[in-house]
Amino acid sequence: MRVVIQDNYDKMSRWAAAYIAAKINAHNEDRPFVLGLPTGSSPIGVYKELIRMNRAGELSFANVVTFNMDEYLGLPHEHDQSYWYFMHDTFFDHLVDMKPENINILNGMTDDPAGECARYEEKIASCGGIDLFMGGIGVDGHLAFNEPFTSLSSRTGLRDLTTDTRIVNSRFFGGDPEKVPAQALSVGIGTVTDSKEVLVLISGHNKARALAATVEGGVSQKWTCSALQLHNGAIIACDEAACGELTVDTYKYFLDIEKKERL
Ligand code: GLP
Repeated sequence: MRVVIQDNYDKMSRWAAAYIAAKINAHNEDRPFVLGLPTGSSPIGVYKELIRMNRAGELSFANVVTFNMDEYLGLPHEHDQSYWYFMHDTFFDHLVDMKPENINILNGMTDDPAGECARYEEKIASCGGIDLFMGGIGVDGHLAFNEPFTSLSSRTGLRDLTTDTRIVNSRFFGGDPEKVPAQALSVGIGTVTDSKEVLVLISGHNKARALAATVEGGVSQKWTCSALQLHNGAIIACDEAACGELTVDTYKYFLDIEKKERL
């Protein structure tokens, strides 16, 4: 696992965007680059930078297919807290050459969640698998909506959200946890770790425990993000604020080993 520590959120975002852009630009297979994407506040800086590069003509999305991590169950596209709405409003609508038919987001209004999730897995497979899955994590270490004690080999499916997650996410729903949907459709931990590369953004003091669990804790379903320790192409991009619970040795190790700032 690589852990790339940047001074602050902006630098972390620019580093991650540059990494993703380099991968897309270097992709020369005769199939599109397949990119997994998260929602939340963590990736907003990366999205802004990718949009800047795209509009400046430095990065094309014409040959990119995207798969989003998750979607609330029961929220229509036009609901301003649906992840469909977030992704279009924050990212897709600002790109000059993203093809709408290349955007894949789980349908939270489906009346057949199991079928919808099975089709999502099949579509990922039919695209040749995900080249790079970008993610964020919750304060409890959830990756996508894979709450603590979700199987580390889970596939895309329906998930119950914990009370804690609904409280944390209630900041987007007028502060009322009851307004946060109780269930979501989500890729599984196994879906994420099947990707060739996984790049997870972790920033801020409130994620310090989760970062330590991801990097230093044992692999455990209690912290689903810890599954990344078994992935051969996992990168954590984080900021200084998130490093507060790492041991000094771990912190020094990654600063030392990453000092060349290689891409
Ligand atoms: C939600 C999403 C996760 C995301 C998490 C963290 O629960 N389902 O995919 O990683 O929020 O969000 P934030 O980046 O806002 O801290």
